[in-house]
Amino acid sequence: MNVVVTGGAGFIGSWLCDRLIENGHRVICIDNLSSGSKENFQHLLRHKRFKFIERDVRDLIGIKGPVECVFHLASKASPIDFREHAIDILLTNSLGTLNMLELARKKKARFLLASTSEVYGDPKEHPQRESYWGNVNPVGVRSCYDESKRFAEALTMAYHRKYGLDVRIARIFNTFGPRMRRDDGRAVPNFIVQALEDRPITVYGDGTQTRSFCYITDLVEGLVRLATTDALGGEIVNLGNPQEVSILEVANLIKKLAGSRSRMVFKPLPQDDPVRRKPDISKAKEILRWKPVTPLREGLQATIEYFRKILKVNISIRHGY
Ligand SMILES: NC(=O)c1ccc[n+]([C@@H]2O[C@H](COP(=O)([O-])OP(=O)(O)OC[C@H]3O[C@@H](n4cnc5c(N)ncnc54)[C@H](O)[C@@H]3O)[C@@H](O)[C@H]2O)c1
Repeated sequence: MNVVVTGGAGFIGSWLCDRLIENGHRVICIDNLSSGSKENFQHLLRHKRFKFIERDVRDLIGIKGPVECVFHLASKASPIDFREHAIDILLTNSLGTLNMLELARKKKARFLLASTSEVYGDPKEHPQRESYWGNVNPVGVRSCYDESKRFAEALTMAYHRKYGLDVRIARIFNTFGPRMRRDDGRAVPNFIVQALEDRPITVYGDGTQTRSFCYITDLVEGLVRLATTDALGGEIVNLGNPQEVSILEVANLIKKLAGSRSRMVFKPLPQDDPVRRKPDISKAKEILRWKPVTPLREGLQATIEYFRKILKVNISIRHGY
């Protein structure tokens, strides 16, 4: 299959490119490298079935030859980018999604949108099922992300209804693993970097707020199944790990696994930070035969090892070794 992956230089996108190449597909990765990095797919650059196009999805993009599937992942996703890059995020998820839907329509390709659990906002329903409409502040600091993903979902469904485009929407819950940015701002990389550097571990609020963390290889398996299973046009599916853990538990586990001497410090919760997040994955289990299989501890260990390596490199460069 000829596959386009937008955002393929990012954390999730680069793992997805690896997996698609492994499965024998031809992959065209489109990315403007704004939050992703070439290092994430350096090992693929010489592969004959991999092609990288450095472009912004907000611009019109023509691709020569057939395309059977478009995975649309391009979008900054870190809360630290929400203030500085709000307009970029809004336009990437609106104009960028429009351009990629048009590409899929012209090529008669299947289209998978990487949406997010953020469309549920600070949920009033728990756990969140796909049928829940969400509780989103339309003008808050996170709205550039929440609302533009909601728009992207609406546009995707409009293309499905008007043009019969074969679309699928993945609502991705917190995912973690190697290749996350060290300055990503999300809990897992934050805690790991602080723990490895023996700096205080910053917990927002009292740490009792919960999240559910899915390891990257499990998520990628879910994305591939969602895109490749037949007769799922117009389906919206939660992908995430339903095991709910408090932020404080995760911080303590990371501290232990990293063998760190860090202490915990508590800071006020950021605006509109959701209190609970947990996917109901019954639909994914039923229609994709999918569920996460990597235990939290195992995923954290692999991620800690990754950060240990890159931090060592950074320290060596600083000291001129
Ligand atoms: N990581 C998570 O836990 C999570 C959770 C829910 C949803 N998602 C979604 O998954 C997708 C990937 O997230 P990620 O965590 O890998 O983030 P990431 O920042 O690592 O990857 C995003 C990629 O998109 C590229 N990009 C951004 N704007 C672009 C533009 N205008 N044109 C071309 N490329 C652009 C970036 O350079 C980067 O390589 C995003 O759509 C995100 O909303 C991620």
